[in-house]
Amino acid sequence: MPIPIKNAEGIRHMRDACAIAATVLAKLKAHVRPGITTYDLDQIGRDLISSFGARSAPHGYTHGSGRPYPAYTCLSVNEEVVHGIGSLKRVLRDGNIVSLDVTVEYNGYIGDNAVTVPVGPIAPRTTELLLVTEEALRRGIAQAVVGNHIGDISHAIQTYVEAHGFSIVREMVGHGVGRKMHEEPQIPNFGRRNTGEKLRPGMTLAIEPMVNLGRPEVRTLSDGWTVVTADGSPSAHFEHTVLTTDRGPEILTIPRAS
Ligand code: MF3
Ligand code: CO
Ligand code: CO
Repeated sequence: MPIPIKNAEGIRHMRDACAIAATVLAKLKAHVRPGITTYDLDQIGRDLISSFGARSAPHGYTHGSGRPYPAYTCLSVNEEVVHGIGSLKRVLRDGNIVSLDVTVEYNGYIGDNAVTVPVGPIAPRTTELLLVTEEALRRGIAQAVVGNHIGDISHAIQTYVEAHGFSIVREMVGHGVGRKMHEEPQIPNFGRRNTGEKLRPGMTLAIEPMVNLGRPEVRTLSDGWTVVTADGSPSAHFEHTVLTTDRGPEILTIPRAS
């Protein structure tokens, strides 16, 4: 399967979906504070998404296990890497980190973005984990240049993360995004320069390093979704949807001035 190339109309729809995803994420982030549960955050996310006339793309989504994803956003605390399900039992506390991953569908197109934020004061090494993961995303995006290869993105992320003594999660990867949440190509957060598909204008790519403070291994909890680090160490996740253009990469998941 070739990588989908979006035409002008597709790009217009992608801009709309991504702007909504980014606005919802920014507003949701403002609700993170000690004492709130991840269930409450998910409900706020659900309401924000519907306030824009959009739909949660993860809600009801099925994969391998066949169990539909029950929540509206993905909220992953501390050792949870991705796909955490909001719960009344999970109360955010000072010293925690929480990853917020918001994916919306609007007019048949999907925008996908994520951040990891601290709850109150956090350990110095965990602060570094967040800074390094966000910078790794920035460096990966900078490689999303027409004529480059997917492996250039992967390599930039991996080398920066590993140079700081953190580890890359291998089991989950970034991806093309458009009419479907997960399109070709896969975008691993590890790899070699000059390998993989060549980038052309009009690709929309979700680039999303998942980085562990400790060892790289992960496992999935018995809920069939929540991915956690095998060693219980904290994990961070940052994500943007990016458009490749002849003028360089353009981040689409940015809130619109309103
Ligand atoms: N936002 C996720 C991603 O970055 C997808 C959600 S997975 C789901 O690819 F299973 F929860 F839907
Ligand atoms: Co996402
Ligand atoms: Co994604």
